[in-house]
Amino acid sequence: MVTYNFDTITSRKGTNCAKWDAAESLFGEKDIIPMWVADMDIPVAKPITDALRKRTEHEFYGYSLPVQFSTSIVNAVQNRMMRKYSWKIEPEWIVSTPGIVSALYTTVKAFTVPGDSVILQDPVYYPFWGAIEDNGCHVANNQLKLVEGYYEIDNDDLAAQFEPVVRVIPSTPRVRMMILCNPHNPVGRVWTREELIKMGKIAIGNKAIVVSDEIHGELLFKGYQHIPFASISKEFEQNSITCIAPSKTFNLAGLQSSILIIPNADLRSKFEETRKGFLPVANILGMVALEAAFNDGDEWLEQFLDYMQHNMEFLRDYFESRIPKIKVIKPEGTYLLWLDCRELGLTPKALAKFMNSKARVGLDHGFAFGPGGEGFERINIACSKPILVKALKRIELAVKDLD
Ligand SMILES: Cc1ncc(COP(=O)(O)O)c(C=O)c1O
Repeated sequence: MVTYNFDTITSRKGTNCAKWDAAESLFGEKDIIPMWVADMDIPVAKPITDALRKRTEHEFYGYSLPVQFSTSIVNAVQNRMMRKYSWKIEPEWIVSTPGIVSALYTTVKAFTVPGDSVILQDPVYYPFWGAIEDNGCHVANNQLKLVEGYYEIDNDDLAAQFEPVVRVIPSTPRVRMMILCNPHNPVGRVWTREELIKMGKIAIGNKAIVVSDEIHGELLFKGYQHIPFASISKEFEQNSITCIAPSKTFNLAGLQSSILIIPNADLRSKFEETRKGFLPVANILGMVALEAAFNDGDEWLEQFLDYMQHNMEFLRDYFESRIPKIKVIKPEGTYLLWLDCRELGLTPKALAKFMNSKARVGLDHGFAFGPGGEGFERINIACSKPILVKALKRIELAVKDLD
């Protein structure tokens, strides 16, 4: 057994690392602790490094085949879905992509026409907005409800999004798609089976395709279980696209390797047709890392999740006892915690400036996630505890200074 020590701090500066090397220009401060973009300041599992090392000993990096042609990668994906969720997927459903965001852009392009609407649930991961609007579509905002500190889906509003508005061509349904985030970034909810069934019935009943981004599906706090949307029923399976990747779970975002699971053959061929010429398959090292992570990464993952549980509990206690004006939304999954800062009484812009320049902690500002994010900040806790402690102390001092 390998025991990992996640307390060790390794500098990532000067490695063309977005999180650290862009922090000064992004936040306008030299001495800033970056806790924004969703990657980890924690080294990867040993089996991943070993597999990459072995592959680089074979000094050829020519064109690769899509993952469907590699039995061992297909097996790794199939086995993981079965092991984690008892979900049986067929080899031909597996589609290789070089990242989920580019895949989402392609998906919207494939299944909508400009002028259509796509549902999302604000506040939500900001590239979802871009994937919709940059394809000439409109966001139909099924904003989440915050009820006593707990985010819920507003099913009445979801159903209302499908009600006819003035249509140019009456027979064309305007809302063609819903992009679901499960677990939800940034509010940290892991949607339950019941919630998914209610939501899915409304969306699919209205002939929308559900694109379920499940990139955070394995990042769960104790007591929570991720349910792939498509695994709920054959009907859900046939009307959805599931996005998975080892990139969040195993810290491999720079290797750009992700998978779409598209059980419906018509949807799959439309996606493949649309991607031609601009969405390549994942790169060769990304595929090696994916296979190693899915097959042999669990020992590391278990220890990492324990560490995140500890960081999360430490942060919640810290805010509760020392910075009570900022409320932590109880997280169920992801390593991105959602901070309700509305009691500080700052405008969204002033709050951003406060975090950047007074606290000198580089957070993702809530308004970037949509109007429902105003007054909130998102903090990434996938770092060693000493970094987290330093950041919390800075926020504490800055808040004290406000009083
Ligand atoms: C919900 C969600 N989807 C997708 C991504 C990014 O995926 P990729 O790097 O594969 O484009 C992120 C990254 O934070 C995310 O939170």
